[in-house]
Amino acid sequence: MSTHIGANRGDIASTVLMPGDPLRAKYIAETYLDNPVCYSSVRNMLGFTGTYKGHKISVQGAGMGIPSLAIYTTEMIKEFGVDTIYRVGSCGGMSPDVKMRDIILGQAGTTDSSIIANTFGPGVYYSPIADFELLDSAYQTAKANDVDVKVGNIFAADRFYNDELDMQKLTDYGVLATEMETAGLYLLAAKYHIRALTILTVSDHLQTGESLSAKDRETSFDEMIRLSLDTAIA
Ligand code: HPA
Repeated sequence: MSTHIGANRGDIASTVLMPGDPLRAKYIAETYLDNPVCYSSVRNMLGFTGTYKGHKISVQGAGMGIPSLAIYTTEMIKEFGVDTIYRVGSCGGMSPDVKMRDIILGQAGTTDSSIIANTFGPGVYYSPIADFELLDSAYQTAKANDVDVKVGNIFAADRFYNDELDMQKLTDYGVLATEMETAGLYLLAAKYHIRALTILTVSDHLQTGESLSAKDRETSFDEMIRLSLDTAIA
């Protein structure tokens, strides 16, 4: 087992879906996977492995924010040989082009997290990006299934509650939506030479103040999970 994941090598598939919420991991595993087995409940950050249409897939909770995601991502890669990660989650829409319940593929990850400066030193503004093959595959899978997707830049905020940041300026520069993880995931994917893609649904909107009802949250979440799983086995 690794420090934060209570599994044996081989328990975790090489392809992992990674929601922030561990109960979402449980829901995905129990709803979509055949024969799901819980391989870790350390700190209640649940992880499951099962099969989807005959392909071995794992679902691992990652928590909120880059520091938490980085723990699970690093251990999955270094200790369990994971080579493909789909982050699945919700986001706050920023661009007026993005509507509630839209599905967004994260092409790039912008961030105010210190992880970039901590990695490269001051003055280097590295741009974490999605794996192109996964991005292309998700886009083609969405098209084939008549699922509308937007593709663009995602802002990973270091704080959920943040009055100081100029979100409008980021929006003016084409950022579609905000969450708290994508830039960290893409940076680690680059560091360890693995493939990663973020797939999000818009659960609230910063411009309009809208927020999804529990029912709508579930429906749009299901559409995103189906797209992620169908991409994972494409
Ligand atoms: N900010 C940060 N993370 C989020 C948001 C948001 O508005 N919505 C969903 N995840």
